[in-house]
Order: sequence, then structure tokens, then C-alpha cells
Amino acid sequence: MGYEWWWRCWVLEFGGFEIFITFAALIILYMYSISEVREWVDRVIRNLHVPGEPQELYGPVSYVMSMGGKRVRPMLCVLSCNLFSERIDNRVLFPAVGLELFHAFTLVHDDIMDNAVLRRNQATVHRKWDVNSAILSGDVMCIAAYRYICEVDPVYLPEVLRLFNETAAQVCEGQQLDMNYERHAVISEEEYLQMVERKTAVLLAAAAKIGAIAGGASSQHVAGMYEFGRLLGVAFQIQDDLLDVYGDADIFGKVIGHDIACNKKTFLLLLAMQQASGSDKRDLFSLLTGKGVSVEEKIRSMLDIYRRLQIRQQVEGHIAGYYERALALLDTVDVAPGRKEYMRQFAEKLVGRKH
Ligand code: IPE
Ligand code: IPE
Ligand code: MG
Ligand code: MG
Ligand code: MG
Repeated sequence: MGYEWWWRCWVLEFGGFEIFITFAALIILYMYSISEVREWVDRVIRNLHVPGEPQELYGPVSYVMSMGGKRVRPMLCVLSCNLFSERIDNRVLFPAVGLELFHAFTLVHDDIMDNAVLRRNQATVHRKWDVNSAILSGDVMCIAAYRYICEVDPVYLPEVLRLFNETAAQVCEGQQLDMNYERHAVISEEEYLQMVERKTAVLLAAAAKIGAIAGGASSQHVAGMYEFGRLLGVAFQIQDDLLDVYGDADIFGKVIGHDIACNKKTFLLLLAMQQASGSDKRDLFSLLTGKGVSVEEKIRSMLDIYRRLQIRQQVEGHIAGYYERALALLDTVDVAPGRKEYMRQFAEKLVGRKH
């Protein structure tokens, strides 16, 4: 009653302005919250049909898909779609989950290549089963990813498939560079950025772009969302590099210091190599090539060098820089500012993450 009275006064006082208010309210009302989007994504993942047999093939698929994870790529896809469309159904949720299946596949194979024992605080697939099971179950996840991607509205299928194919190949290229660089003494910043762009950022970019396509966005908006996802993706991988050194093991769910142990060319190492001088420089290179040093000692000495050069603070600054650029890009995407609020919050949460 009170509300009706208030509303009538409002209408009387502002006349035609109420049409604008109603319209603005509608725009806000039809945005889905981050937790709603998360629930939808989780529901599709829970309902994935994974056959029971052969157990060695499908057991790891159920294991990986049910062991948690942040679901960054499907969330990004659906939130991006919702910037342009109120209609969130299986035409976008299934492709979004296709992106998560693809990501999960890359993790299973990445853990073999990186010789990792822990993922999301649990044993990696090749440790729990064996390498052959991890290879083949990864393959079948990749095929499932395609199945789900193909559930996009048929009108958008050619464009989405072209993008997904290109992205998938780039992820493989990035992974190869990541492994090649383990054996390089030094890499340049340009080489580092090329590697992370391909192994990580393009998948986030594709997720944002596929969402925009499925939401019927204009080609200009679609391109904008790709660039937003790409910048966010670079920040995301640099943050992963940082957490690998300074994360809390229980929250991060992976072995801390593993990148140092494997001579991974992380952003931290890149800055340290650029800036170290004198004995730090000598120590750094002997740690990278050195034999007879235990892993614990190697990590400890590297941490000392990082501390002296204030690498952590610098890397945090670079992450913030990429994040700001991503948000500035989002600002240029020409939809009502209120519609972008959840996407902003999502990006903020990603950069402040601890795992
Ligand atoms: C890990 O990805 C691999 C990187 C690209 C850094 P996530 O950090 O998204 O892993 P989950 O899915 O949340 O476990
Ligand atoms: C991940 O890079 C890139 C992928 C394509 C999986 P990382 O090797 O840094 O990922 P984590 O740290 O094992 O999750
Ligand atoms: Mg790797
Ligand atoms: Mg890895
Ligand atoms: Mg990592």
C-alpha cells in the first residue's frame, strides 16, 4: 500500500520520467547474479552424463569434473552473454560447460607434462590412475567439450566453432612454449607474454567472446569482449605464477614452489632475471642450471632473491595494471553501466583470489 502511494507520487511528480525509471529497473532486474550463474553452471556439470565403463577412461572424467575448481571460463561466458541478452538457457550454458570440459582436459594433460602430484588439493589423475588413463581420459574430455560447444544456437555455430578450434590450437602452442622455456636460460618479456597469452589468456578471451556471440552482441561488442577476456587472462596467469610462490598451500591446492623446482619461466623469474646484479645474478643462474642443490634449498634461495628485489610487490603491480586495462576495456563496451556490475565484481574477485 505504502509502496503504491509512493510510486504514484513519483509518477505525478516526474511525469514521463517514470518510463525511464521502469526501463532502467527492468535492465537491472534481468541481470543474473554471480551466484545464480554459478548455480546454473554447477547444475549442468552435476548432470553431465559420464558413462561408467571403461572405468579407467571415465572414472577420471567424473573425478576431475566433480573435484571443484573456480569455473572461471563458463562463468565468464554466461556473464558475458547476460550483458547482451536476458535469455540464459542451454544454448549458452552447454557451450560454457564445454569450455570447462576443455579446461579440465588441459589440466589433466598439463599435470602430466609438469609432473604435478596435486590439483585442487587432491591427487592428480596420472598419480591416482596412471599416465595412460590420464592421456585418454583427457582426450575424451576434449571430445565432450566439442559436443557441448556444438549446442550453441545453430546460427552461431560456424563462428563459435572456428573460434574454438583456433583457441584450442593456441593453447597447445602456449603449452609447448611453456615446456620449451624450461630449458631456456633466459626469455624476454615478449616471449613470456606470447606464452601466457596462448596457454591461458586466449581461453578466457574465447569464453567472453562466445558468451557475447550467444547473446547476439554486435561484432564490435564481440571483439571488445574478446579483448577484455584476453587482458583478464594475462592477469590471471601472472597471478597463478605469484600464487605458486606465495599462495597458501591448503587454499591454492597445488604444491607451492613447483614452478621454481621445474625452472618454469614465470613472471617472477622474468623480473628477477632482468633486475638481478652481482652475486644475486650469479646465484640466480647457478640455481637454474645448478646440480647438487636440493629442491627445498633451490626454492629457499630463489625466495631470498625475490625478497631482495621486491619481486612480489612488482608482480602485484603488473597484475593490477592488466586488471585495470581489462576494466577500462569493459568500460568501452557500450551497454548500460548497471549491466556490467556483476562482470566487474567477477573480475575483481578473480584478481583478489587466493586459489
Ligand atoms: C589453472 O586454472 C590453470 C591456469 C590457467 C592458471 P584455474 O586456476 O582456473 O584452475 P581451477 O579450474 O580453478 O582449478
Ligand atoms: C596452465 O599453466 C596452462 C594450461 C593450459 C593448463 P600452469 O601449468 O601454470 O597451470 P597450473 O599451475 O598447473 O594450474
Ligand atoms: Mg603447465
Ligand atoms: Mg601446471
Ligand atoms: Mg601455474
